[in-house]
Formats: sequence, C-alpha cells, structure tokens
Amino acid sequence: MKFSSLPRAKLASLPTPLQYLPNLTEKLKGPKIWVKRDDLTGLAFGGNKARKLEYLMGDAVEKKADYIVSGAGFHSNWCTQTAAAAKKLGLKIKLVKSGPAKGYDEDTWDGNHLLHHLIRAEISVVKPENFMPTIEATMEVLKKQGHNPYYMPVGGSIALGAAGYLNAMLELTYQMVQEGTQFDYLVHATGSGGTQAGLVAGTKAYNSGVKIIGAAVGLTEKQVQINKVKEIVLDTMEKFELNFKLNNDDIIVYNEYVGGGYGFITEQKAEAIKLLAETEGIFIDPVYTATAMACLIDLVRKSEFTEKDNVVFLHTGGAVALFPYKEPLKAYINNEKLPWSIPSWSPQSN
Ligand SMILES: Cc1ncc(COP(=O)(O)O)c(C=O)c1O
Repeated sequence: MKFSSLPRAKLASLPTPLQYLPNLTEKLKGPKIWVKRDDLTGLAFGGNKARKLEYLMGDAVEKKADYIVSGAGFHSNWCTQTAAAAKKLGLKIKLVKSGPAKGYDEDTWDGNHLLHHLIRAEISVVKPENFMPTIEATMEVLKKQGHNPYYMPVGGSIALGAAGYLNAMLELTYQMVQEGTQFDYLVHATGSGGTQAGLVAGTKAYNSGVKIIGAAVGLTEKQVQINKVKEIVLDTMEKFELNFKLNNDDIIVYNEYVGGGYGFITEQKAEAIKLLAETEGIFIDPVYTATAMACLIDLVRKSEFTEKDNVVFLHTGGAVALFPYKEPLKAYINNEKLPWSIPSWSPQSN
C-alpha cells in the first residue's frame, strides 16, 4: 500500500515552520543552523508524536476502536499526545505508566504527569517489570467488558507511525526547494526509533540528500539502537512499497550525549537548553531535545560540519518536561553544582 492512501486522522497543523537560527549560528561559528519546528504540530503542546498519531489513530478509527490503550514512562510526551488525540477523536484512553522501582510521589503533579490527569486519562503507574503484563491484562479486561480496545505500542514506533515522518521528510524536501537551500544534515533525538526510521526512509525514497543523525536518549549500545531503527525502516519499506537500497551508514546514531541514562540531566544538556533559549527564544526539554542539541553543539565544536553545511535541528517538542527539572536548571543558571542528575520518578532512581 502507498503511504499516501493510508487512513489518516487529521490531528496536526502541517507543515510546521522551518526557521533559520542566525544568532545560534553566529554564536557557534560553524555551519548554518536551522530548526524544523515539530514542537508546533498543534496537538496538546505539540511534538513529533502528532505526526505518527495521524496514521495510528487513522487505523484505530477505521477499525472502530472505542478505547486506546498505551503507555510509556512516567513523564511521557507520547502519553500526553496519545491521550490528546484520543480525546479529540472521542475515544477513551487508558495509560499504563512505568514508574520508579520505589513507587512515586502521587502528590508531585508536574510536567506531563499533571497533563495526564488534566486530560482525564485513566492512569495506572506500575513498576517497569509489570509494564507489558499490565497492558495485556488491560486489553483483556476491556475486551471482556465488550469494548473494542486498540493497543498503540510505546512511542508509536512501527511502520504506521514512521509514515508520519515519511510525510515530514516530504515536507522538509519541499521547504528545502522553496528556500533554495540544500540541507546536509538533520539532527534529532532518537528513542523508540520511529522518528528516525521515517526520516531515513523519506530521505532515501525522495533522494533528498539529507543525512539523518539521531542522538540516543537512553543507555543503549550504538549498534542496538541502529538495529532498532533499521528494523522499522525495513518494515516501512515493505509496507509502503518503497524501493531504495539501505546502506550501513544511512542510520547514524550518537550515544555519547545521554549522560547517566534516560532522563539524566548533564551540564551539556543544561547548556544546550540555555543557549537555544537565550539566543533564539526557543525552549527545549532536558530528556530528548536537549540531548539532540548537545550533540549538535558538540559536533560543531569538533568541526564535524563545515561552514558551508546547512544543518537542521528537528525540534520534536516535549518542553513541558522543563518544569520537573527546575532545580538543576536553576542551579546551572546560577553557576552552582546540579543538586541531582536523575529525577526521582525515573525507573533508575533509587
Ligand atoms: C520530545 C521527544 N523527542 C524525541 C522522541 C524520540 O522519538 P522516537 O521515539 O520516535 O525515537 C520522543 C519520544 O518520546 C519525544 O518525546
């Protein structure tokens, strides 16, 4: 099936803006830096998931689902956008969230966790090892109650979700032509891998010539992350009849910027957040987009790009996660030692 004929729920405001960042470019004295504003996709607080959800929810609606079942981490952006999409389409939503081993503080409503309550999702917080069994049990209970539940995998990182980024790459290629500028690299945060898979499939299918760089947000080995993305690219190619040769160097992953693990904040990430805010008035989050921006800044400083290059930073959203990180960010701004690096709600916290 061609991806253009997939059932689609119109959830995002597209195309998202492509903006040149003159002040950041001047400050870093390297390549020309641009931003693709997928933080402005227009669903809840925006972000990359809106694009994936257009196709995933399109499928759910076509299958006449009445309940969406999904989940991810405690402060998940995916959960926020999935819940928003479900509500917009008049569907019920169950969220299973994987919380810290020692439980979590129910009174600390902040960032995405606050949004999950505001949107009135049905929420369960479980220990990481109970995550999938709880999802499976939830699906069974709903079916027994006569519902037609639809399971959305974490991050929507299957071929249907990657279709959202095939579409994004189409958009970017058009914007590139409009600007009369060839983009050489795109840098973004990679987690469950669907965003990178769609971007890689798109740049290859349309021969856009943009190299896709993913900055890993978890403590995954480089090759493991590359394989994860590759699997989704191959599935995307098969499902949507895309015909190109996938080379070994088409999937580029850096895992040096994650620090101590998923959700870990480092001085490098805090610097990235502050630098983009003070030069361009754009806010990024400590978990995902700051990892990608820290990667971009470091690659500029290491002269991995030339001054002739045009580099696009894909802003994938998630800035509401700034607020649960207010303490280390305040310390960084005041030139003090960060009071903590790993948040209390992280499964790694003990
Ligand atoms: C803000 C943000 N950026 C990037 C990503 C990574 O996207 P993917 O899971 O498709 O690799 C996520 C995933 O949750 C996200 O929330």
